[in-house]
Amino acid sequence: MEFKSSIFMKKESFIVKGLAGKKTLRGIISIRGAKNAALKAMAAALLFDSEVELHNIPNTEDIYTMASILRNLGAKVEWRNGHLFIDCASVTSSDLDTKLAGIMRASVVATGPLLSRFGKTTFPEPGGCVIGARPIDQFIMGYKAMGAKVIENDCVFNIEMDKKLSLTDVSIKFDKITVGGTETLMMAAVMGNRVVTLHNCAKEPEIVNVATWLNQCGANISGVGTETITIVGTKGKLLSPKTIYTAIPDRIEAGSYLILGALCSSELTINECRPDHMKSVISLLKTSGVHITISKYANSNGNRSIFITDNGNPNSDFHSFNVQTSVYPGFPTDLQAQIVTYLTQVTGASTVKENIFEGRLKYVVDLTKLGANILIKNPNEISIQGPTKLLAATDDHELNAHDIRAGFAMIMAAIISTGTYVINNTYFVDRGYEKIEERLTLLGAKIDRVQSV
Ligand code: EPU
Repeated sequence: MEFKSSIFMKKESFIVKGLAGKKTLRGIISIRGAKNAALKAMAAALLFDSEVELHNIPNTEDIYTMASILRNLGAKVEWRNGHLFIDCASVTSSDLDTKLAGIMRASVVATGPLLSRFGKTTFPEPGGCVIGARPIDQFIMGYKAMGAKVIENDCVFNIEMDKKLSLTDVSIKFDKITVGGTETLMMAAVMGNRVVTLHNCAKEPEIVNVATWLNQCGANISGVGTETITIVGTKGKLLSPKTIYTAIPDRIEAGSYLILGALCSSELTINECRPDHMKSVISLLKTSGVHITISKYANSNGNRSIFITDNGNPNSDFHSFNVQTSVYPGFPTDLQAQIVTYLTQVTGASTVKENIFEGRLKYVVDLTKLGANILIKNPNEISIQGPTKLLAATDDHELNAHDIRAGFAMIMAAIISTGTYVINNTYFVDRGYEKIEERLTLLGAKIDRVQSV
């Protein structure tokens, strides 16, 4: 399969016909592999001496972008029988392509394995979703602590790490918890000549998923999933692909469909997921009144099913709650827009606070356009009074996907609503949700993809 990133291609929109509050979605949805784990495993392929085999990789735009970035460095990347194969044996360049790296923040994660392997890298200020300032000071702080020389020129960073210097053990404490920073510095240390200890680390399951695989292939990383991670370098030895990497189920995709199912379905089964990674959202929805059960037994992959049952009553039977986003295992920022949409439909007042990213409430304007009763208390906090019918008061039926997750929330809002709505910027949704219109159509939603004029 050829990789194409549609950011360079035509513009598309979704057209969604609302269910006018009816809960008619029904069926089974199987969750794909976690994009945010898969992207890091792809970058980690740079640490290997030969071809790695990656399973359960979602077909999403961000994956295509990372594939293009790796190819641009000289890697061979291809899909075979639904699995992704990456061979970095012939990679000689350590400079990330400015255009490609500029469109996706996760590109910066590749600098870790590049530094580990080549001792140098050049990369631009990373791009990504428009969700506020997303600095990389923690990466730079870490690289400097590891003895790297960092030169910034016109938003391009040039980093060089004298591998021979890397003999003294080093201890680095993140000033703030960062998922990408934890993963990147961890990978930067894998092939070093010393012990690197990282403190105040992120504990997301995606990090554990990738580190477990790296350890199976020759890395020596301990403490992943806790605040302190220790990496004993392999002294320049590349890793060998002793096992296949399998991405864990995407807890954000699963959580998104769970929230959608709570509002719009009478019965929904979400297969191939890890409820133990989704405790915060499951518990909030249950407290709110949604009937959620979890399969007693895990399947051969260790995954389970989540069932929404007896869900035919109106959403006004559900209760509101307050929520604030936080690092794992707290409530994820990547489900914030979806849960806000949920709260517009249930009875009572609620407050939602975004603690991870600045500027991740921009989509609220679109929800209010549909009639949601939301007060912006400050740029990171809103209060919601529900329930409200979603129906545009004017002829303006265009909504925007401001980022991946707000894009899903807009689709949700349009499905709940009365009327037909256009959601622009499908690209953002495609970055994180595989074949969304096909999968929603199978559940009974009326959604089409059209070319924008
Ligand atoms: N931050 C800094 N300095 C740094 C790094 C981060 O100030 O050097 C700040 C960020 O600006 C942000 C906070 O720290 O305010 C947390 O950022 P983090 O580094 O944890 O996020 P990330 O690694 O850029 C990943 C996911 C995001 C997800 C966040 C938080 C990937 C590719 N992306 O981003 O996923 O929201 O962790 O869980 O793993 C998404 O999938 O839609 C998405 C945005």
